[in-house]
Amino acid sequence: MDRQEAMLRELNLYPQWTLRDAPQRPEIVAPASAEMPVEHMAAVPEAEVLHAAPVDEMIVETEVPVATVTAFIPAKTWPELKQQVRDCERCGLRAGCTQTVFGAGNERADWFFVGEGPGAEEDAQGEPFVGESGKLLDNMLAAIKLRRGKDVYIANVSKCRPPENSHPTAEQIALCSPYLAHQIELVNPKLIVALGKVAATNLLGEDMPLDALRGTLHDYNGIPLIVTYHPAYLLRRPSVKAQAWQDLCFAVDVMKEVQS
Ligand code: URA
Repeated sequence: MDRQEAMLRELNLYPQWTLRDAPQRPEIVAPASAEMPVEHMAAVPEAEVLHAAPVDEMIVETEVPVATVTAFIPAKTWPELKQQVRDCERCGLRAGCTQTVFGAGNERADWFFVGEGPGAEEDAQGEPFVGESGKLLDNMLAAIKLRRGKDVYIANVSKCRPPENSHPTAEQIALCSPYLAHQIELVNPKLIVALGKVAATNLLGEDMPLDALRGTLHDYNGIPLIVTYHPAYLLRRPSVKAQAWQDLCFAVDVMKEVQS
């Protein structure tokens, strides 16, 4: 079994799904739900499943705070920004976590993946997506021939882990959001992939159901942005991996277009 096959097996996509013969993806302008197979349309909404499941990762709230503009002067360079995040005590979460989790990867990557915030593993290691959902994210990346540290940059909306796997509040997210905005500005990627509703809501500035955001090409300050499920959700609801694969194929197509 080669690595690609192993990844697709991990995603529950082998042998029906392969990257080369990707399923028909949604039209760029049409909501993904319009073309979803009936069984997937019936899927339990993301937030419900996450709340019903045991929590060992950062989870997604039904009510998602939208980032607001705050009086904040961002640093100008990577070293300044990293220092600013390390020193940050703006929202109070820093007092309860082990360390800040800034972001990781190629600082000139074409791909920028955005999650919600660090879980226990990320808090311990200081790197985003190194826990169970991180392993799945790595496999999702491998399925489209991307590697962490080489082809992508990965960061979260929130840089600090909230206590006891609770959610960052609207105010905490709003206070942290300028750091992500500045990371995106510095990387200047060709495509942003928002993982889950918190990332999508904060980057797009509108609170809509995840399924209404999927399958559409969005815009973040002139950078194409697509939305897919958070890996933690996929771990709890493996049947939705097929839809995540559809999103990844969509992302690959968009990337090909913007690179050409
Ligand atoms: N969930 C996230 O959203 N980010 C991480 O870094 C880990 C889990």
